[in-house]
Order: sequence, then structure tokens, then C-alpha cells
Amino acid sequence: MASHASNKLDGKVAIVTGGASGIGEEAARRLANHGAYVMIADIQDKKGHDLVALIGSHRCTYIHCDVTDEQQVKSLVELTLQSNGRLDILFSNAGRGNNIKQDILEFDIPAFERLFAVNVRGMAACVKHGARAMVAGGIKGSIICTASILASIGNENHVDYAMSKHAVLGLVRSASKQLGAYGIRVNCVSPGAVATPLVCGVYGVSEEEAERMFEPSSSLKGVLKAKHVADAVVFLASEEAEFINGHSLAVDGGWAG
Ligand SMILES: NC(=O)c1ccc[n+]([C@@H]2O[C@H](COP(=O)([O-])OP(=O)(O)OC[C@H]3O[C@@H](n4cnc5c(N)ncnc54)[C@H](O)[C@@H]3O)[C@@H](O)[C@H]2O)c1
Repeated sequence: MASHASNKLDGKVAIVTGGASGIGEEAARRLANHGAYVMIADIQDKKGHDLVALIGSHRCTYIHCDVTDEQQVKSLVELTLQSNGRLDILFSNAGRGNNIKQDILEFDIPAFERLFAVNVRGMAACVKHGARAMVAGGIKGSIICTASILASIGNENHVDYAMSKHAVLGLVRSASKQLGAYGIRVNCVSPGAVATPLVCGVYGVSEEEAERMFEPSSSLKGVLKAKHVADAVVFLASEEAEFINGHSLAVDGGWAG
């Protein structure tokens, strides 16, 4: 069981979608270490329950929630309010990828729709219901979405994924303009490539192979890890970022720059 790193988020209640693995898992650990109570939402139930056992069941809980189903997202937020009385932080992070090689001439529309159901429709449902809870409760909360460096540049392979992350950026920028009036901030983290199960699955490589593949991409020496993205999430969730709104925070070791 990890100890509290600081009390930066003491008394805060957070939801992390896609919280059972990769970037979401690291964010759940770090939010809890900074004092937040974390609702870990995912479709990988065993991994979610195992993570709760590691973090400590007094600091987090696991809820099955498929973000493609708006009713499940609504229930997740309702359950959070019933059990904790408030929602301060939403990390809308659940996402997926498709095949590495995508030729627009042979573009797989059904696969694109399945990806958009998670990365775009799911993201919008989470922001909608998370924001409604914050507005109704008078909470000046923080909403953070996971975009990508592919949110603002094109890509020769991942056409549908790049489209979906551009949409996330549009959602963040638009929602931030509307929710700023309530004191609610909406930002995104835009990671470079991190060797998570999502990425290893898309490329069909091991974690070590993925890290070797991506290492030359950043101008900093070393390997971009999920923990680096999670630290940016904690920053955006905290009062240290109290006047940052509508922003995409690149965490890519200088790749895009
Ligand atoms: N790893 C990278 O290089 C990278 C780069 C940029 C952005 N991202 C984004 O980071 C986010 C997290 O991905 P990751 O790399 O940590 O991968 P990951 O596979 O480790 O984690 C994604 C999590 O989302 C969950 N998920 C998938 N579909 C879901 C659904 N319908 N409902 C609820 N949960 C669902 C998965 O079960 C998984 O636990 C995604 O939005 C991804 O697009 C990843």
C-alpha cells in the first residue's frame, strides 16, 4: 500500500475512466497518493479489483463502466455522488486503438465507428455527466481528458485514432469555454507514445520492444512512462493549475515540439 505523497488533493473525490491499466492506473495511484478518493472505472473488472487491493479500499473503489453506454456513465456519476457526496475531479481517459496500418483508400468504417464509440462518444458522455454533477453541486472542479500528440497532427497510419483525438481536443476547448463560467476547468493531457497494453497491442510488440521503438522520438533522453502523464494529470487536477483552462498539455519529451 502506497503512502500519501502530499495532501495536495485531500478531501477531493475523483473518477478515473480506463483506470484499471496504463495511464489511468498510474493516475489512480497518484491521485490517491495525493489524498483524493478515487472511483476507478473500467471494463477490465479483475484488473480494477486488483488495483483497489493494491491502493487500499479505504482510498478507492472499482466500478464497472463501459463508457460507450451513456446510461452506465450516468450511473457511475450517480454512484459517486451517493457514496461520496461530491465529484471534484474527472479524468476521462478510457480509450482504444485500431490496426497500425490504415490506408484511407481501404478505410474500415465499422472499425472507425467502434473506436469513435469509446474515444469520442464515451469521452463526451463522461464530460457531460461529470460536468452536470459539478454544476449541480456548485463544485469548481477539474475535468481532464486524455488526448494525444495525434490530437493536433496528422499521421500516416493511425487515421481513425488521429481523428478521434482531434475530436477530444475540440470537446475540451468547447466545454472549457462553457464551463469556465461555473469555475470548472476542462483541459487535456496529450501524451506521446507510452508502452501501455493499448500501444503494445496495436503494434504487436512487448513493452520492452515498444520502449526501444519510441525512445528516439523524444528530444529528452530516456523513456516516456505512464507515470509522467499521471503527474501532469495531478497538476491539472490541483489548485496549482487554478487558472489553466482549455489547454492541451503535451507530455511527450519534446516529440511534437
Ligand atoms: N499509450 C500511449 O502511447 C498513448 C498516447 C496518447 C494517448 N493515449 C491515450 O491514453 C488513454 C489510456 O490508454 P493507455 O495507453 O493507458 O492504454 P491501456 O490499454 O493501458 O488503458 C486503457 C484503458 O481503457 C479501458 N477501456 C477501453 N475501452 C473502454 C470502455 N469502453 N469503457 C471503459 N473503459 C475502457 C481499457 O480496459 C483499459 O484499462 C487512451 O485514451 C489512449 O488513447 C495513449
